[in-house]
Amino acid sequence: MITMDAHRFLLPLVLLQFLFFTLPLTGNSKLFREYIGAEERGVTFSNVPIHPGVNFHFILSFAIDYDTSASPTNGDFRVYWDTKNLNASTVSSIKARHANVKVAMSLGGDTTGSKHVKFTIKTINSWVGNAINSITRIAKEYYLDGIDIDYEHFSTDPNTFAECIGRLLLHLKQNKIISFASIAPYEHDSVQPYYLALWKKYSHLIDYVNFQFYAYGKGITVPQFMKFFETQISNYRGGKVLVSLGTDGSGGLSPQAGFFEACKKLKGLGKLHGIFIWSADDSKKKGFPYEKQSQNILASGK
Ligand SMILES: *[C@@H]1O[C@H](CO)[C@@H](O)[C@H](O)[C@H]1NC(C)=O
Repeated sequence: MITMDAHRFLLPLVLLQFLFFTLPLTGNSKLFREYIGAEERGVTFSNVPIHPGVNFHFILSFAIDYDTSASPTNGDFRVYWDTKNLNASTVSSIKARHANVKVAMSLGGDTTGSKHVKFTIKTINSWVGNAINSITRIAKEYYLDGIDIDYEHFSTDPNTFAECIGRLLLHLKQNKIISFASIAPYEHDSVQPYYLALWKKYSHLIDYVNFQFYAYGKGITVPQFMKFFETQISNYRGGKVLVSLGTDGSGGLSPQAGFFEACKKLKGLGKLHGIFIWSADDSKKKGFPYEKQSQNILASGK
């Protein structure tokens, strides 16, 4: 009798558990990502706290297809991040010390020196060919696992950008040069159409959307942030849109105004696909408190 009753009770429970853990009631993931190396502040990988319970991506900032006199090179990328500290040997040692760490590089960025970095090509085929060669070389030299696309200024139309980046990602993934790719759009009429054109045709090649929520105005509130988040998950439908924090005093939802409260809310809704921070360079002098807090939230619970 007791066993019968137990079964009657247990079976639905087991089924419920099965549904709970297999169906993505939760889109939560324990992914933490951080940009590093853009600002010549001498930050190193080992400065940054790494929680063992998260998947951690460093994103080297930036590789740019510009020459030393800041003229575009049609897809021939060079490393612009701080290679005094962030070099092949420090990449391989941080990965050897932390099994949960992967390292990516970001392409483009806002400026170099005082000039905007503009996405500029001669032809689609020649840009893609040069980009494949130079990025393959850099990825091998620095033991990289992934790539992030962060152009913010353009001298082509959106479809040309989409075609170049899409073909580049296709080649890099098919040939296993990289194992993951992300894009880093923000809400602006001069930026979003480029990434939406890319998403429309090539979303299957893009693993994460590093949406720059810190590019919204300063002083936004939790409800506003939640609304912006919903807008972006509908723009990048089916994508893993990460939430983000700027530690450089830029805009968006600050920790004081409830950034971490919003993260917990999203986690409760099963929509916390990860958190990223711009940037380790800016966080260094503060001792990385927000990196710790972000990773604690990601690592806790389901
Ligand atoms: C790589 O960076 C480390 C840490 O800053 C430094 O000690 C080392 O000399 C660098 N190696 C090269 C080849 O630049």
